[in-house]
Amino acid sequence: MKITVFDNERVLARTLAVQIAASLGQRPATVLGLATGRTPIRLYHELGTLHAHGQADFSRATTFNLDEFAGVERDHPGSYRVFMQEHLFSRVNLPPENVHFLDGAVADPEAECERYETAIAAAGGIDLQILGIGTNGHIGFNEPARALEPRTHLVTLKASTRRSNAGLFHGDPEQVPSQALSMGMATILHARRIVLIATGKSKARCVERMVKGPIDTRMPASFLQLHRDVELALDRAAAAALRPE
Ligand code: PGA
Repeated sequence: MKITVFDNERVLARTLAVQIAASLGQRPATVLGLATGRTPIRLYHELGTLHAHGQADFSRATTFNLDEFAGVERDHPGSYRVFMQEHLFSRVNLPPENVHFLDGAVADPEAECERYETAIAAAGGIDLQILGIGTNGHIGFNEPARALEPRTHLVTLKASTRRSNAGLFHGDPEQVPSQALSMGMATILHARRIVLIATGKSKARCVERMVKGPIDTRMPASFLQLHRDVELALDRAAAAALRPE
């Protein structure tokens, strides 16, 4: 795993945004896998700023988001679709027909998950997957478990994950849906390149376990050790536990 430690979140976000804009310049029809959560917000705003300055063109890009809450309509204020609209899609020139999302409100989640896998394959696979990491080591909504699902699937969220998403639901973890649809571990690991962003001291321990620990389904992010092109973009606080003693 390539590990890059940045002085602070601002420099991290700016540097990654410039890199993504440059790869869109070289390969305009890039397929991006996108993450939600607090971590990538600065990156998305930096991409919006670059676009406003004519330095990032999304006109031929395609996106697939990692996950969505089950039972939530696409225009619900707590949906990840609305989150992405606010933080990225409204700020850049992505054609709406190139934006792909899991529909959490469908009657048949299994068919929806299959549709998503087929759409990713039809787009030629994901070129660059952006990831965050949960403090419990989850990526997407692949929660620690005895076994992990390879493909896009319906998941039951851990209490800690519902708590950390409460901000989208009036601060009340009870209002956070108990289930979600998420890309699976193989869906994520088939991306050609993966950049995982982790910032803040609350992530230091899971970053350490992801990098140094055994590959373990109880630390889903540890499976990234198997991928040949993963970069961890960390701020100093998230990298703190990696320093030699
Ligand atoms: P966060 O979430 O960016 O809000 O810390 C990360 C995640 O759960 O994947």
